[in-house]
Amino acid sequence: MTGCLPTPPPDDPCDRIATDLADPGWSVCTDFLAPDQVAVLAAELDGCRAAGRFRPAGIGTGMALQLRPDIRNDQVHWLGEAPGSAAQRAYFATLESLRLAINRHLYLGLFRFEGHMALYPPGSFYRKHLDQFRGATHRKVSVILYLNPAWGPDDGGALRLYLAATGEGEYRDIAPQGGTLVCFLSDRFHHEVLPTRRERRSLTGWFRVRD
Ligand code: OGA
Ligand code: MN
Repeated sequence: MTGCLPTPPPDDPCDRIATDLADPGWSVCTDFLAPDQVAVLAAELDGCRAAGRFRPAGIGTGMALQLRPDIRNDQVHWLGEAPGSAAQRAYFATLESLRLAINRHLYLGLFRFEGHMALYPPGSFYRKHLDQFRGATHRKVSVILYLNPAWGPDDGGALRLYLAATGEGEYRDIAPQGGTLVCFLSDRFHHEVLPTRRERRSLTGWFRVRD
């Protein structure tokens, strides 16, 4: 059997997500993380908020970063290269398995993950956009984990993912339910966060290629 790679079990969520990213290019995995892991990550986010670590989110990168509360009015706290807590390390280890699965299936050459905690206070939103900013193509796959228990149909705050490359027409609305992981190709799918009626918490990030 030398030279044979083990065939991954077909129900491995990372392999299923990678297969979805190959076609149709997006994936929604409910219960990607167990409720107790989600609760610990949510409590950490609350702790960062209490410690005053969140800042208004901008659009663009580097010198082109701008605050545009008419486009987005969430708040973010960027995660460091070496995340502190055990729960964050466990989540990052899971993302590492996902990165390798995506590279096996799509040959994207994904190199690392960058991400932030995001907090949408009631009434906030993020208008329709692509995650690749003009001229900056390092972000290849967007990865969002929601941290909100018992999200209801009247809570608003859905992620609206437009399926056509034009960003018009057919879309899917995805509830930011705790434990749900959403992934999509960053250069391909326009999306927006509809106004939320309840506080909406997530860990959002991107698999990038080497600079
Ligand atoms: C983003 C974004 C979507 C979401 O941060 O770029 O589009 O559902 N987030 O939080
Ligand atoms: Mn986005």
